[in-house]
Amino acid sequence: MTLPWHRGLETGNAHIDSQHRELFERIYALIAACKDRRERQEIGTLFTFLKQYVQKHFAAEEEFQLRHNYPHHREHAKLHESLMQHLFALEAVYLREGSSLPVVTNSLMFTYEWLTDHILHWDRQMANFVAASERPAAAGPISESIPVCDPALGGITNHRGMVKP
Ligand SMILES: [Fe+2]
Repeated sequence: MTLPWHRGLETGNAHIDSQHRELFERIYALIAACKDRRERQEIGTLFTFLKQYVQKHFAAEEEFQLRHNYPHHREHAKLHESLMQHLFALEAVYLREGSSLPVVTNSLMFTYEWLTDHILHWDRQMANFVAASERPAAAGPISESIPVCDPALGGITNHRGMVKP
């Protein structure tokens, strides 16, 4: 079984990507545990880890968004809050019903699908916005910003026709 992480999930932000990867590795650990029939022991470990790590990761992402004036910050934070509520609900079922196969399967499927969906849509949108906002704003299209050497004018001109001797 291969790690359920692939390059398509990368946002381009190394810090965020490494945290996402860690989340997927933990989910993968539970999938691997299912194969070895150790899921009953491992599901509690996954919940404990996810509750702490996901909160830390979401806080980092939200701080990152605020720092870069991301316009969809509130909407994104609501999605994070919604996942936390779902995690608490899934854990409550696990604590009440034990680590039966349906409980383990539901927890795995929900967590994996939510994360994949969230990263592919919302986190990549955020990372694209930040990457675009960090490009030099006044540079314009590349063809306009490249100076041209024009011997007839006796120097180098840029796209505005300004001459540098
Ligand atoms: Fe997010």
